[in-house]
Amino acid sequence: MSVKNSIENSQGERFQFGANWQSFLSTLNDERILEAERSLSDMLKIDNLVGKRFLDIGSGSGLFSLAAKRLGASVHSFDYDLKSVNCTKELKKRYFANDNSWTIEKGSVLDKEYLTSLDKFDIVYSWGVLHHTGDMKSALENALLPLSDQGVLFIAIYNDQGNRSKLWRMVKKTYSSSRVGRMLISSIFIPIFALYSILVGIIIYKNPLHQFSSYKAQRGMSIYHDWIDWLGGYPFEVAKPGYIFNFYKSHGLVLDNMITTNGWGCCQYVFFKH
Ligand SMILES: C[S@@+](CC[C@H](N)C(=O)[O-])C[C@H]1O[C@@H](n2cnc3c(N)ncnc32)[C@H](O)[C@@H]1O
Repeated sequence: MSVKNSIENSQGERFQFGANWQSFLSTLNDERILEAERSLSDMLKIDNLVGKRFLDIGSGSGLFSLAAKRLGASVHSFDYDLKSVNCTKELKKRYFANDNSWTIEKGSVLDKEYLTSLDKFDIVYSWGVLHHTGDMKSALENALLPLSDQGVLFIAIYNDQGNRSKLWRMVKKTYSSSRVGRMLISSIFIPIFALYSILVGIIIYKNPLHQFSSYKAQRGMSIYHDWIDWLGGYPFEVAKPGYIFNFYKSHGLVLDNMITTNGWGCCQYVFFKH
């Protein structure tokens, strides 16, 4: 058994990301796709990706591979979860059926041999993935393997909130442990999330449904599917921005753009190799 397999198999129950993404695909529309494109263009500070090679590590629904394709890139997508792989294939079938510049397969970012076997890419994108592998440090390192000289690395990693993050880890572990765990956590948190969203809508926007209808502006995502991802996304690790900055600085990368949060959620980083 390889090191990668022993780590991934020893984690016990994992969140079924792919099942959540399959359900998300039923909500996908042009507006969400445009938001996904916008989130890529804004963070990468580009108008298009014509002539660029784009690697999507942990492609999930496949929405960002699709966005990169629509911006003109050639794309390789991979994910550890077969259902996520199938979601990405479904999007290719819907929007780029006969295009052979988009390849999709099952693979793990913890599999160093696999990463080394890939071509080199101008953009390596891994949003909300490396902290869900069970070995974030290796994943952060391996993401560099397919990066071309002068390539750009765009990642998002959950912010380290100290004890709050430890609590969230327990919530996610419980959710992913069994059907009972899932029902317990969902029955506590979904009503809290819903009530909170309604109250924010009423108090700030004078519209109880505002948070639900405006959520797609968050990278084209769906509020309900993100709630499930937050409650279940396990394995789960976190990092402070300083850690990520120093980690990649020590590997010779320069920070070009970032969006951080003091609270719950992911910090986004764009680094370039020079
Ligand atoms: C929160 S989702 C993010 C999906 C997508 N990147 C996005 O931004 O919407 C995390 C994804 O990482 C995938 N994943 C988890 N461990 C992985 C690994 N070792 N290698 C590749 N993908 C992995 C999961 O299957 C899931 O599809």
